[in-house]
Amino acid sequence: MAIFLDSSDLNEIRQLMATGIVSGITTNPLIISKENPGVDLKAHILEIISMSKVPVSVELTTETEVEMLAEARDYARWHPEHVVIKVPMSEAGLRVIHALERHDQTPVNVTCIMSFNQAYVAALAGATYVSIFSGRVRDMGYDPAPIIAQTRAALDREQLKARIIVGSIRHMADVNEALHAGAHIVTVPPAILRKMFWNPRTTETIREFNDAWAKDRTRKK
Ligand code: E4P
Repeated sequence: MAIFLDSSDLNEIRQLMATGIVSGITTNPLIISKENPGVDLKAHILEIISMSKVPVSVELTTETEVEMLAEARDYARWHPEHVVIKVPMSEAGLRVIHALERHDQTPVNVTCIMSFNQAYVAALAGATYVSIFSGRVRDMGYDPAPIIAQTRAALDREQLKARIIVGSIRHMADVNEALHAGAHIVTVPPAILRKMFWNPRTTETIREFNDAWAKDRTRKK
């Protein structure tokens, strides 16, 4: 199991990479336009890669097969070792995934997946990662856990190389649920990742220890 960071914020990436618990980064056009409006995408992605040295998913913004392939090949040239192309799930997307993975040997993260059937065909097309959107699946009234579990069972049974990333994480409980259901990776926004470090009883206990120490030292003087 692994944790990726779902962010393009350079400060957050620097701080959280230094904890040693993050092994990949995912971005999307919405995240980038919120966190870094108007940014030069190439310069920004290269900056993220130079500070993180992990796979960084960069999402396509075009919608036809020809445009998507051209856009993907441009991004892949920026940094062939660390750029992962995020391809939104669609029929044209499947052709793009197949061409990038099989002909270019460029790793693809298939994104916006809401169902087992989409995850399965994305894996058959040769994807390195399939991204199931937990929060958005739940928004539609469905439970994401069986989708994750069925996808994991199919990948294992058929020995497909795809790794499941669960994204669209809204609460800390979504992270635990995804990992228990069989996700290989969960991509987590910084604020939710930080909640995983924290427990009120831990804070209280540290306070108790350090107060006792301070009192003892004061008494000695
Ligand atoms: C995953 O790779 C996506 O960037 C992300 O988790 C999307 O989720 P949201 O837009 O529902 O928050």
